[in-house]
Amino acid sequence: MVLDVQNIGRSFGGLRALDDVSFSVEPNRILAVIGPNGAGKTTLFNVISGLFLPDTGTVLHRGQDVTGYPAWRIARHGIARTFQNLCLFENMTVLENVMVGRHGSSRCGILASLFHTPTQHREERAIRQSADAALADVGLEQHANIPVGALSFGQRRMVELARALIMTPDVLLLDEPGAGLNTREKLSLSGLIRRFRERAITILLVEHDMSMVMDLADRIVVLDHGRCIASGTPEQVRSDPQVIASYLGGAHA
Ligand SMILES: Nc1ncnc2c1ncn2[C@@H]1O[C@H](COP(=O)(O)OP(=O)(O)O)[C@@H](O)[C@H]1O
Ligand SMILES: [Mg+2]
Repeated sequence: MVLDVQNIGRSFGGLRALDDVSFSVEPNRILAVIGPNGAGKTTLFNVISGLFLPDTGTVLHRGQDVTGYPAWRIARHGIARTFQNLCLFENMTVLENVMVGRHGSSRCGILASLFHTPTQHREERAIRQSADAALADVGLEQHANIPVGALSFGQRRMVELARALIMTPDVLLLDEPGAGLNTREKLSLSGLIRRFRERAITILLVEHDMSMVMDLADRIVVLDHGRCIASGTPEQVRSDPQVIASYLGGAHA
């Protein structure tokens, strides 16, 4: 298993945002995490990516316990993410926004960057090359040097994706990457996600567009009020009575 989530619990005050959530993800799979608003999907990503400590439970990445690691260390370990609400620096260029993804994990640190050491130049060049490659992956290589503020919403989402890619992750957490995209953009996003899987990146996908989820996912985990109420193949989940009642509703039944 590339990722094992075991008995994760997390409360905010009296609210149990995650309650004993467990699942495993095999390598090179696309796992969709679905559920109504407030179900705990983003909280789950925040726990896996090291932004929140869980109250209970363990996160294993390739068998190693990474629970409680700070976010930069999780990212360096190979788990990268994007955010539900875009997290970009409007006045910086597209390229700079992507490179930011790696500086957090740069080995040289602040001291070295004050005195441009040879190591730092080398590292800077390597980061620049990864950023160019990531921008090419998401089709933004022509826009590298313009400010992010000049891009369309769909293109900005791709900048965030490129930023996650330059960590060369083996697990990528995508929190509603299709939100606000038009049909054509969603199609190209789906194609991109499939290409990531071919490149041996395991994807965890939070997405409300059920046709996109059913089309892409190898497996689905359903959260409701912080609990995992079902998991399985798209076919199994789609025909699960509890899932239909609590989430998919009449329109999808
Ligand atoms: N930082 C936080 N502080 C307080 N409550 C939070 C925080 N983050 C999430 N919650 C609450 O936890 C529950 C789950 O939220 P969230 O994980 O964002 O759900 P989802 O992403 O499935 O819509 C919600 O009731 C939300 O209000
Ligand atoms: Mg959310």
